[in-house]
Amino acid sequence: MLPEKIPLLQVAIHGAMAGQLLKQSVYEFRYLHAHPDQPEVALLMPASRQLTWQDGDLFPVMDQNLPEGDLFMRLRALFPKQALSPMHLLALIGDNGIGRLGYALPDWPAPPPAPPIDRATLLETAYSPRVFDELVHAYLATGAGIAGMQPKIMLPALDTERTTIPIPSLIVKAASAAYPGLAANEYLCLKAARRAGILTPTFELSNDGHMLVLDRFDLVRQPDGSLERLGFEDIAALAGLRVRDVLSDRKYQGSYQRVAELLRMLQLPRENLHRFFEHVAFSVMVRNGDAHLKNFGVLYRSSADAWLAPMFDVVTTTIYRYTRYDGGSELEDRTLALRLFAGKHGSKAYPTTEELLRFGSKVCGVSHPQAVLNRIAAALRETMDEARQDERIPATVRTQMAEAWAQGALHGTKS
Ligand SMILES: Nc1ncnc2c1ncn2[C@@H]1O[C@H](COP(=O)(O)OP(=O)(O)O)[C@@H](O)[C@H]1O
Ligand SMILES: [Mg+2]
Repeated sequence: MLPEKIPLLQVAIHGAMAGQLLKQSVYEFRYLHAHPDQPEVALLMPASRQLTWQDGDLFPVMDQNLPEGDLFMRLRALFPKQALSPMHLLALIGDNGIGRLGYALPDWPAPPPAPPIDRATLLETAYSPRVFDELVHAYLATGAGIAGMQPKIMLPALDTERTTIPIPSLIVKAASAAYPGLAANEYLCLKAARRAGILTPTFELSNDGHMLVLDRFDLVRQPDGSLERLGFEDIAALAGLRVRDVLSDRKYQGSYQRVAELLRMLQLPRENLHRFFEHVAFSVMVRNGDAHLKNFGVLYRSSADAWLAPMFDVVTTTIYRYTRYDGGSELEDRTLALRLFAGKHGSKAYPTTEELLRFGSKVCGVSHPQAVLNRIAAALRETMDEARQDERIPATVRTQMAEAWAQGALHGTKS
């Protein structure tokens, strides 16, 4: 059990002690040293601007990975009597959160490392809710530092040289009763994206089709075998929003145009805006209605060396019905997560080809946006053809997705 109150946590950046997080009437982050050019705790909180930062709420870069949804409920059930304030959740995340920040209670022993798992074994594991529960129990201590609503856990992998990566490096996204075939759906979307030349994390679908296994994109294996941890901030965090829990529909506010403007403001090299156009166009064309502010992010080594993260969490959502709250009436997902254009004329309706092209050229500076749409359309057709031979993909999911993709592919021309 953690202490009842946690007024202070030590914060490490890429494994090196860098500051303190204090919680009194407000949250305060203090850099330990005064060098202006030390690694920044967040892109918009550099030591060169201020050495002490205060906020009434937890800083977005720390808030963004706090377990929510399924993982939070599991933590709650596992530690029914434990206070689970944001400070407690950070202490539980320890060194294992997405990105390069780590948290430690002073004078508190580090948890024992979890036994590593071999990727092939994992892919052969037949999914059942009980098997996934067991995985979560075995790995929760090391895998708590990830947000998102769907069931998922992070695990440390044995790599090909049989060396263990010291922190969890695989993400397992599991089946969800509410969304049949979700893992297979996301797998097909990622396959089509990769075929279209869009950067994705490395991914695999388990043999039974019920678990999607992803490599963490914020970890980079170095030639000497060591592991580099990249900074990661999702767009909601970069926009200063905390979007967990009650306020969660905040992540559905705004527009893709504003996201592009934020990327511009961060001075990412221009090709990142071209990539952003591909992500938006792809989401439109596979009918992904859940590409909200937490499903885009920026990776970085420093503010001068930052780039758009690979595409992740992309699903053909229009094949599912959903409820806004437990017991609420079922709705059909017929819109985008965000408006395409900012301003009062912006709409969440799926755009016309003309609107998409305008978004590409005017907002993202792409010189031949139609070529991007053609490339994606071709990848959708080819991926769907190939999926027929893949027995892991449930036939109903495949035919429903094929229908949605055929609509989306109309944005591309055949030639
Ligand atoms: N491959 C990955 N590498 C590193 N972080 C990831 C990766 N995939 C997802 N994440 C992080 O985990 C969070 C939740 O994952 P996501 O795929 O969006 O799940 P959900 O469907 O529950 O929203 C994302 O918002 C992102 O911060
Ligand atoms: Mg997500």
